[in-house]
Amino acid sequence: MRKEEEILLEDVHAKILSYLDNPQIKPIETVENIKKDFNIKLGSSSDFNHIRTSVDKYLQYSTKTSSSNFFNQLYGGFSITGHIGEMLSSITNNSMYTYEMSPVSTLMEIELVEKMSSLVGYENGGGIFVPGGSNGNLLAMLAARQKKAPETMKKGLFKTPELTLFVSKDSHYSMVKSAIQLGIGMDNVMKVDTDSEGKMLVSDLERLIKKSIGKKQKPFFVGATSGSTVRGSFDSLNDISKICEKYNLWLHVDGSWGGSALLSKTHRNLLEGAEKSDSLSWCAHKAMAQPLICT
Ligand SMILES: Cc1ncc(COP(=O)(O)O)c(C=O)c1O
Repeated sequence: MRKEEEILLEDVHAKILSYLDNPQIKPIETVENIKKDFNIKLGSSSDFNHIRTSVDKYLQYSTKTSSSNFFNQLYGGFSITGHIGEMLSSITNNSMYTYEMSPVSTLMEIELVEKMSSLVGYENGGGIFVPGGSNGNLLAMLAARQKKAPETMKKGLFKTPELTLFVSKDSHYSMVKSAIQLGIGMDNVMKVDTDSEGKMLVSDLERLIKKSIGKKQKPFFVGATSGSTVRGSFDSLNDISKICEKYNLWLHVDGSWGGSALLSKTHRNLLEGAEKSDSLSWCAHKAMAQPLICT
């Protein structure tokens, strides 16, 4: 590396450290003023002073999610180990498509999946890191569709009765989005009522499953939520798993933000019954304060 590049890197890291120490959370400037002050037009990548100014302006006008006073989305905090991991993955720039390409990160993925599976209570659980909770829910729904309607792998949805799935009305919008992406359609997402705490009403779940069977549809998937986005409620996984067993449905747990309760001796009971599910999504970039995206 050239000397000037080394100095630039050191300068940028110093800027990052002082950004972390600055208590300001939200930029107070309007978009118009930011545009006036920060020239974001593409410049020369060899103009190191322009890069220094751009880094300053970028940090000055960014919302600081690492502050303990940041309460907007479901994530926050700064993790020194997460930051080191981000730097390593960027510097090594490996891809996860083969072991040969990324031996260490492949082994790390296996280790983490084993650890997280054992916390859920799965025996010989498998898994994969994906770009976000929405993507985890999509992948779970795809796995459920392959398992419960395997003919879809060859024939698409053309030779299958209308597939239906069930989520609470407080579930994350990615469930509906996934149904659209998989060709199941938003009209086939049955929204189950919730109780006064925002938990899925299991009696309403069974009512909707029976109604769907009565219409000659094919129920295949129930998406329970462990930590709902707005109210933070946890569905009763034991009760829901009994219904899934009775009607032979795939049970997915969207633990995107509440999954981290599995790490707490005091709160892990909120996910009691998770080990009976077929799949679970869990975002370390939410309640575990790891950098985006880590699911
Ligand atoms: C319950 C739940 N599921 C899924 C998601 C989607 O996660 P991501 O933004 O990582 O795709 C969220 C995000 O807020 C969520 O709260």
